[in-house]
Amino acid sequence: MKRIAVLTSGGDAPGMNAAIRAVVRTGIGRGWEMFGVRLGYEGLINGRFIPLGARDVGGIIQRGGTFLGSARSAEFKTIDGQKKAIRSLNEQGIDGLVVIGGNGSQTGSYALAKLGFSVVGVASTIDNDLYGSDITIGVDTALNIALEAIDRLKITASSHQRAFMIEVMGRNCGYLALMAGIAGGAEMMVIPEVEITPEDIAETLRIAYEKGKAHAIVVVAEGAKYPIGVINQYFIDHKERLGFDLRITTLGHVQRGGNPGAFDRILATKLGAGAVDALGRGEYGVLVGQIKNEVKTTPLDVVTSNKKTVDLRLLELARLLD
Ligand code: F6P
Repeated sequence: MKRIAVLTSGGDAPGMNAAIRAVVRTGIGRGWEMFGVRLGYEGLINGRFIPLGARDVGGIIQRGGTFLGSARSAEFKTIDGQKKAIRSLNEQGIDGLVVIGGNGSQTGSYALAKLGFSVVGVASTIDNDLYGSDITIGVDTALNIALEAIDRLKITASSHQRAFMIEVMGRNCGYLALMAGIAGGAEMMVIPEVEITPEDIAETLRIAYEKGKAHAIVVVAEGAKYPIGVINQYFIDHKERLGFDLRITTLGHVQRGGNPGAFDRILATKLGAGAVDALGRGEYGVLVGQIKNEVKTTPLDVVTSNKKTVDLRLLELARLLD
């Protein structure tokens, strides 16, 4: 019988609970003994294992966040921290570890794999910046939360002939901003992958105003070259050229806190089960992700040494629709 542990790490993402549930229940289905680790790598270092039965993961598929808890562990980034984690795993007699998380978390799982531990990653981050999965657990729900906010802001914006700048998360990746902007019919998306100056934004808003639009929406990625505060100051300094009155909204962690939609629950279930399948066939040191609608594994060294790109043709398409 195998003893398998599962942890969630980094920023929580809607669907993590569904992934834990799938790992635990498919593992139990194979006759394995399953454990959860509290608070990510921090908990791993400190040996915070809890046995998980099928009933322990009941009633969580619809809940956002992660019932195991998550953390960003500074200690785990050190080789000493990683060795402590391996010691904890060995003391508990764990044969394999499933790490549900994004870029930082999978860099961590690669570190454990390099130290010889049997680890499998599951692609989960709202940023969708992880190489090895076309879409990651949590993106769709976060996107829909951002979209709902944009739709609401549009209503009040048009009542007042205002422009709104909305900052969305995504770390250094423009995926969420690009997709939220397209789905929300925004006038402009400001993303890290493209150099866009405050002057470019002012020009777009001025044109929108001259076209007679009742509102204008600009979606700004948090990782954009010019942060939303800098853009805002620019507009304060050049108010008369804008036409619209401008307001700012930063969505922040609101985007992460929702309950997962159907897409994320299903993706998480497929990828969680895929991680157990990988462990079952003795495939370690890989990330389980979805590529061209199939559950696929990608070696963690490939995952951590490649950067996922956004499809900039969509930005062009959005410009055509303006
Ligand atoms: O990686 C997910 C994410 O939500 C990013 O979009 C954001 O930059 C970061 O985490 C925020 O981190 P924290 O929750 O530690 O403030």
